[in-house]
Amino acid sequence: MAFKPANRIQDLQYFGEFGGVNPSISDSSTYTFLSAKTMFDTFEGNADGCYLYSRHSSPSNLYLGEALAAMEGTETANVSASGMGAITPVLMQLCGAGDHIISSRTIYGGTYAFLKNFLPRFQVQTSFVDITKLNAVEAAITKNTKVLYCESVSNPLLEVADIRGLAAIAKKHQLKLVVDNTFSPLSISPAVLGANIVIHSLTKFINGSSDTVGGVVCGTQELINELRNVNHGASMLLGSTMDSLRAASVLKNLRTLHIRMQQHSKNGLFLAQKFEADGLKTVYPGLESHPSHELFKSMMNAQYGFGGMLTIDVGSLEKANELMELMQNRNLGYLAVSLGFYKTLFSAPGTSTSSEIPENEQKEMGLSDGLIRFSIGLDDDIERTYEMMNGCMKELGILVMSK
Ligand SMILES: Cc1ncc(COP(=O)(O)O)c(C=O)c1O
Repeated sequence: MAFKPANRIQDLQYFGEFGGVNPSISDSSTYTFLSAKTMFDTFEGNADGCYLYSRHSSPSNLYLGEALAAMEGTETANVSASGMGAITPVLMQLCGAGDHIISSRTIYGGTYAFLKNFLPRFQVQTSFVDITKLNAVEAAITKNTKVLYCESVSNPLLEVADIRGLAAIAKKHQLKLVVDNTFSPLSISPAVLGANIVIHSLTKFINGSSDTVGGVVCGTQELINELRNVNHGASMLLGSTMDSLRAASVLKNLRTLHIRMQQHSKNGLFLAQKFEADGLKTVYPGLESHPSHELFKSMMNAQYGFGGMLTIDVGSLEKANELMELMQNRNLGYLAVSLGFYKTLFSAPGTSTSSEIPENEQKEMGLSDGLIRFSIGLDDDIERTYEMMNGCMKELGILVMSK
C-alpha cells in the first residue's frame, strides 16, 4: 500500500489537559518523582513515561517527535534546537576517531563546513563525492567508512539522490545512510526508500513561518535512545534541546504542511516552466530537463509535487544582486537566506548559504556566480507574480524586451 505521510500526521490525536484540542505545553525544565526509586530507574533509562529533565525529553518535544516520526515512517524521533543541532550529534554519535564519512559534495554550507573543518579535529575524515554517481560513492568506501550522507534534494544545486540505490550500497557495506530531507518533506520519504536516519531542519518548510529554528532526527528507537543516553548520548550531552513552547508551535504548523507543500510545488512548477520557456537557465526537479527528473518521479509521493525550490542563472553576481534587490523593492519576496516561508525568498548561494565552500570547489560542482536560489512562496495568483518578475528581468536586461 502506498505510504501516505499526511494521513499519518492526521491520524495522531493528542488531547490537552482539560480536553484542549491541542496538547498541553510542558512548561517545566524538571519533573517531580513520588519515589526516589523511580528517579533512579529513570536515570537508568528504565522508567517509560516518566520525565526527568527537559534537556533529556519533555512531553511537548515527544509529541512533536512522534508526529515527525509518523510522517517519515520511522520508529521514533528526537527534536532539537536547530537543524545543525540534529545533524552534528548524529554524525558524532555514529563516528569516532579514525572513522570515515562519504558525503555528497553538494550539501548545505554549514553541514559541509562541519564535515570539512570541524570533524577532522576529532580524526573523522570525509570524502566528498558526486552523489548522483553510485559508482563513485561505492569506490570511495574504505574499511573505516561508517556513514553515507546526502540531502534528498541538495542545497543549493537541487541534485537528487537515488535513495534506493544508496540504501543498497549502505546495506551491502554495513554503513548508515543518513539523509537530510529538509528540501522535500512529504514529497520524498527517505526511510521508506531505505535510509536509516532522516534529518530535517524544521526551520524551513515544516515550520513554514520563518519564526524559529529547529531540527529533528528520525530513526530507530535504539538510535534515539543512544542519542539521549545520559552517559554517552551526543544529543543529551551536547545539549541542543528544543524549547517546549517552540515544539508546541511547530507541531501546530506541521498540521498544515500538506496544503502548503502542494501550493509551494504548484507555484514552483509554474514559475520554473515559465522561466525555462523565457530562455533562462532554470533548475527545478519538476522540469523534464532536470537530469534527475525521472528519478525524482520514481521516489516521490506524487500529490506533494516537486517542491518549492528552484534556481536560475542570470550570468553574473552583479546581475543576480540587481534582480534580487529590484524584486524585493517590488514586494515579490525577500532577499534573505533560508526557505520554506509563505513569502518567496531569494539569495545568491555562492556568497551566502554556500560561502563556506571554497570558490574553486564551487566552480567544480557547478555553483556559478549568477545563480539565484528561490524558495517559492504560497502566492495565490502566481501568474501575476510571474508577470512582475518577468518585468523586473526585462527592466534589467536579463531578458530582452520582446519576450
Ligand atoms: C538542507 C539543510 N540542512 C540543514 C540546515 C541547517 O538547519 P538550521 O539552520 O535549522 O540549523 C539547512 C539550513 O539552511 C539546510 O538548508
